[in-house]
Amino acid sequence: MSHEHVRGGFADGWFPVELSQHVAEGQVVQSMLHGQELALWRPLAGSVQAWENRCPHRSVRLTLGFVAGDQLVCRYHGWRYGSDGRCTRVPSTPALAPPPAACVRTYQCREADGVVWASLALAPRGYPPRVPGLASCRSFTLDRGVEALAAGIEAAGFECSGSPVVWRERETHGEAATLLLQPLNADTTCLWLLVADAMSAPRRLAVAHRIKALFNEELSHA
Ligand code: FES
Repeated sequence: MSHEHVRGGFADGWFPVELSQHVAEGQVVQSMLHGQELALWRPLAGSVQAWENRCPHRSVRLTLGFVAGDQLVCRYHGWRYGSDGRCTRVPSTPALAPPPAACVRTYQCREADGVVWASLALAPRGYPPRVPGLASCRSFTLDRGVEALAAGIEAAGFECSGSPVVWRERETHGEAATLLLQPLNADTTCLWLLVADAMSAPRRLAVAHRIKALFNEELSHA
């Protein structure tokens, strides 16, 4: 799926791209959405940002850089970018205004309930889905696209909950688990398993094993 296709309307909703706890203040981390590599970063004061992971100067990954206050600095030649993506300083020519074309592509990004949500659409529909009171249990990376996973997720006892990327466990006698689907690209999806603090360790394990067994995939990370 091409990046332009996504921006053109296929995926104008919100998608989980990371857990808030993994993007600490002053940190920049890499993520992926619909085949677009993202640099997620959080200024020392302000909200998390989702940018194309490419410096406009020489295309170096911005995730190799670092956060300085409210700006992101490219590691290679030290160009600095403000929260609107525009270059604010070129160290080799400090007396000159940065070139207007030196602007990082930025994406819509929101945080809700401990999840970072992003959209490649210029004007995403609505608001990010809400998943209050949950924390990450573990995550899986599967070699299938979001659409191809739906039947399997249903078979594992989950039902779609308002958004095609949010699935809640049905018919439980205790706390229900929730799955968030992050489309890494057309053929790969990251499943985030979220559970309430009150869920017992044995039940967490049982849910995770049920998902793992169904898709017969390796755990990517816990
Ligand atoms: S490649 Fe980023 S500043 Fe040169």
